[in-house]
Amino acid sequence: MANIVVVGTQWGDEGKGKVVDLLSDSADYIVRFQGGNNAGHTLVVEDRKLILHLIPSGILHPRKTCCIGNGVVVDPGVLLEEIEKLRGHQVHVSPETLVISGQAHVIMTYHREVDNARERRKGKGKIGTTGRGIGPCYEDKASRAGIRMHELINPKLFTEKLKENLEEKNFYLEKFLGAKPLAYQQIADEYLAYGELLRPYVGNVSELLDRARRQGKNILFEGAQGTHLDIDHGTYPFVTSSNAVAGGACCGAGIGPSLIDAVIGICKAYTTRVGGGPFPTELTDAVGQHLQREGAEFGSTTGRPRRCGWLDLVVLRNAARLNGLNSLAITKLDVLSGLEQIRVATSYVHESSSMEIFPNECFTLESCDPSYIDFPGWNEDISNARNFSDLPVKTQRYLRAIEELAEIPLSIVSVGPGREQTIMLQNPFEG
Ligand code: GDP
Ligand code: IMO
Ligand code: MG
Repeated sequence: MANIVVVGTQWGDEGKGKVVDLLSDSADYIVRFQGGNNAGHTLVVEDRKLILHLIPSGILHPRKTCCIGNGVVVDPGVLLEEIEKLRGHQVHVSPETLVISGQAHVIMTYHREVDNARERRKGKGKIGTTGRGIGPCYEDKASRAGIRMHELINPKLFTEKLKENLEEKNFYLEKFLGAKPLAYQQIADEYLAYGELLRPYVGNVSELLDRARRQGKNILFEGAQGTHLDIDHGTYPFVTSSNAVAGGACCGAGIGPSLIDAVIGICKAYTTRVGGGPFPTELTDAVGQHLQREGAEFGSTTGRPRRCGWLDLVVLRNAARLNGLNSLAITKLDVLSGLEQIRVATSYVHESSSMEIFPNECFTLESCDPSYIDFPGWNEDISNARNFSDLPVKTQRYLRAIEELAEIPLSIVSVGPGREQTIMLQNPFEG
């Protein structure tokens, strides 16, 4: 029996969905613990491509239970659409295979409106959010004004809370943000219908997971976003509004830290970022274009082009410390094929001194210049490699160097989007 947490080590989109889908084969329960439909997790199985925003990436595997923990913010309209989309692909989704925590907070229409109106108002200084209402929903959670799944499925409690909240939200929308006020009845009708449809899925995820672990089941926790988008440890304020680090799995699912057996960090062989914020190794030259084109780097949620740059070991070591990583999954290695030289940042220069530790404030990071070490590139197509020894020697050396410099062993190497395009060095559930 093992309970494993998968987290992103960079700024999201590292390929968590692919790895979680792969590891789900060995798991019984797959649990999302934070974030919402700002996430876009892509699964490619037998020429079929699916992007999931809320439902855990284990859903394609039959006889598994997928859970949405209390730490997630749920847009019920998006969730229902996702359930329908999966059914359209002949994937079985029912209250037996999907359980949503009653304590998860609900993303309301006014959260999306506030998110977008605020970004418009900020203009150039905007965060570049996904516009899904994530920040405003977590704000209401913290200020104790939020509506939870328990209330969504209870019409009396829901309508009372909505009336109370909408008065304040409309004042803020109209008077401060210069946006249109929202009509009570329209939201009430829409959300009461969602509540009816979702009622059978609402349960006690913490208790369910406790029963599962007593029965010796394997639990896989699926992180969303990445360590450097974490509300506390990321590049604040250019972050999301939840704890994306591994510790978030405990509070976001309702389990104790002593029950986590291992944490796997997902790391792209280069770096990408969507939205604003500092990015020391960003490339705007032909190499950046190579990474963008070959890696098909467009946001899975908003379709925005992702900013691209070299792998940054200062970032990776920061993620190793913050998450207590036991092993690394390196993804998108195939995208580096064809580059003459591959660079990896190992430290920064800030005001003429060398910095090895990631600064925890944005204004310092903005004036950091990366110091690189270089590796010779390779031209071979590596997307059919299934064993470490199938890789060109130069590729093997590059991987071993990352492992040594980051001081974390590699468990998985991904050489393409497909489930089978993987080199499994050590299955974390068997380790
Ligand atoms: P997530 O948010 O971390 O789950 O990542 P996304 O799904 O947003 O973005 C990762 C993208 O890279 C998706 O389009 C995946 O299908 C794709 N992908 C994952 N692993 C690999 C890989 O090893 N090679 C290539 N070429 N694509 C990959
Ligand atoms: P996955 O799970 C990449 C980014 C947004 C923006 C910032 C805040 O697919 O890795 P938000 O809407 O959360 O308030 O936006 O965070 N962001 C992501 N970037 N991948 C994600 O998720 C992201 N989720 C949020 O682009 O910069
Ligand atoms: Mg993504």
